[in-house]
Amino acid sequence: MLNWREQRKKAAAYINNICQKRPEIGLILGSGLGDFGREIEEAVVIPYQDIPGFPTSTVKGHAGELILGKKQGKSIVVMNGRVHFYEGYSIQEVVFPVWVMKELGVRKLIVTNAAGGLNPTFRPGDLMIITDHLNFIGTNPLIGANDQQIGPRFPAMTDAHPAEYVELAKRAADSIELHIMKGVYLAISGPVYESTAMSKFQRLIGADAVGMSTVPEIIASTHAGIKNLAISCITDVVKDNPEQALTHEEVIKVASEVKPRFIKLVNEILKDI
Ligand code: HPA
Repeated sequence: MLNWREQRKKAAAYINNICQKRPEIGLILGSGLGDFGREIEEAVVIPYQDIPGFPTSTVKGHAGELILGKKQGKSIVVMNGRVHFYEGYSIQEVVFPVWVMKELGVRKLIVTNAAGGLNPTFRPGDLMIITDHLNFIGTNPLIGANDQQIGPRFPAMTDAHPAEYVELAKRAADSIELHIMKGVYLAISGPVYESTAMSKFQRLIGADAVGMSTVPEIIASTHAGIKNLAISCITDVVKDNPEQALTHEEVIKVASEVKPRFIKLVNEILKDI
């Protein structure tokens, strides 16, 4: 088994061999945003399973693909589909694509996800720009020997969600008259949704939304000196219906209803980022 440094160089070399584009911006698309991949110009599509060391989803038909191409005149690399810690991957496998993006030359990263709303002013279908995060996954992708070629041993997380990008996303939303929230995202490992006491606790400690992804990737990219912008699609609001259990189907349904607006927003953001 190669170490992560050799692995990511091997993966990047494989990608560079197929496609000579040098992406400047990376996008990690969460639940329901896959269609964005179809809009990419001059697209080169590489299935994850072909890339050395890349995690491929165990769920049939959800293997995922890396798409290199152009959008709004920008050179981008898109992860169409991601893997989660709850699927049984190591936390380093979850963030491996971020390390490969760094190797490809990516300096800016946009991450999207579906999340549960904890802030009682939120409504299902709202979008939220992530202004900060809480890591409750119980582990960290930077545990283990530090790779100095990527970043320092003790990276600060105070600028993991630069205000400049939060404002850029807000302006982009305003320009298309899209109602958008800002807030703190709390990551849990999943795969279970919150107990009632858990969501009360999460709200109490300052979270506006909760989900099962994004924070590992943000930690890895911040460590790597990549500038992040993360946006959640609020698929459900905890206090909305306390007596009715949340289902995965509900989350997917709302995410797919929001998709056209979400894609429009990402397109607006790409113009200015
Ligand atoms: N909790 C955790 N993850 C989620 C939720 C939630 O309520 N909704 C969508 N993803």
